[in-house]
Amino acid sequence: MITLKSKVEIDKMRESCRVAAHVMDVVLAAAGEGVTTKELDRIAYEEILKFKGIPSFLNYEGFPASICSCVNDEIVHGIPGKRKLKSGDILTVDLGVILHGYHSDMARTVGIGVISPDAQKLIDVTKECFFRGIEKAVPGNRIVDISREIQTYAEANGMSVVRPFVGHGIGQEMHEDPEVPNYVTRNRGPVLRAGMTIAVEPMINLGSKEVSFDDDGWTARTKDGKYSAQYENTIVITDGLPEILTLPGFKWEDRK
Ligand code: CO
Repeated sequence: MITLKSKVEIDKMRESCRVAAHVMDVVLAAAGEGVTTKELDRIAYEEILKFKGIPSFLNYEGFPASICSCVNDEIVHGIPGKRKLKSGDILTVDLGVILHGYHSDMARTVGIGVISPDAQKLIDVTKECFFRGIEKAVPGNRIVDISREIQTYAEANGMSVVRPFVGHGIGQEMHEDPEVPNYVTRNRGPVLRAGMTIAVEPMINLGSKEVSFDDDGWTARTKDGKYSAQYENTIVITDGLPEILTLPGFKWEDRK
């Protein structure tokens, strides 16, 4: 069931998303050579608590941390640990906060030290996939209109779209209807309406789309070992272009 959020609910989500965006800034500022992903997780946890938020990933279906951290060929759901970041790595941080009873969800991929041109292009294309996708997130369009833009841009750049993981509705639950695939499916998805809140999260691979899973039961990585990137924000459908709740201060005019 898709829930349309009221103005009051959107205000609460905006606050939750603002905190998530702040926490992401703090975590990414700390992400550098020699730092462990476990340390970044601790920073996120403490920062979320400062705002009386709840780290929504922690204990979610047994997940043991407040962030997902993925390095290089890891796609999603990586568990923070003793791995030290080094120059040339790319790091994806995915995090969520519950505040005032509402979830926020976002992810970023960044380079550590000096990264290869291919890795930088992957990061840039993944971000651009998100923006091209959500430019279609206007009332009257369908979810598939977002999906098509993401897939088209990724593939036009010789990259591939990860299949097993999709974006999602978000609100009082982290994962609500509808699903928001990053690729075109037979199901065109529901018509978008103002007040829908969704997390759009392209996961793009430099090589093939094939995924393998680690024995830890969580970490998904590329089968061919090539790098993967993600760019996710929580957005709300408005009467015009969407508001990007986890990108406070963003103005569409600045993108043009
Ligand atoms: Co998400």
